[in-house]
Amino acid sequence: MNNELEKRIEAAVKNPQNLGEMENADAIGTVGNPDCGDMLRMWVKFKEEDGRKVIDRATFQTFGCQTAIAVASVATEMLAGKTVAEAMSMSGEELAAPLGALPPVKIHCAQLVEGALRSALGGEVAPRPPAAATAPTLLESFTPPSAPQTKLKIVLDP
Ligand code: FES
Repeated sequence: MNNELEKRIEAAVKNPQNLGEMENADAIGTVGNPDCGDMLRMWVKFKEEDGRKVIDRATFQTFGCQTAIAVASVATEMLAGKTVAEAMSMSGEELAAPLGALPPVKIHCAQLVEGALRSALGGEVAPRPPAAATAPTLLESFTPPSAPQTKLKIVLDP
């Protein structure tokens, strides 16, 4: 990665914008990358503006790398004021644009953000949780259910 990109990522990670759950979100999307194991969830709130439904605010949480955090931070800033169609038309590279061009090995980090956004807005990347109130937390999504309790029989050697 070049120095300028690294600096912008570092700055975004030190002061991430729109980080955290949104209690009254209108839409939630979660995606995971099976290759690197990272996950990202995005919450979206809409509002009416000049007769159009636009994104009022977007927030995120992630178990992801620094690039994913930085992209989610700048992307959620850019999404405010966009219609669903405008937001859905944005690629991972476009969502990461304020950081600069990502190296090929980091493109999937921006695609994680794109995937969560598409999931939230009704795309085909991942099914949307049924409702904000009943959606598991990102940590619960990431943690496999605990194994059923089994009884152990301890046999002592005579
Ligand atoms: Fe997995 Fe960046 S390494 S999202």
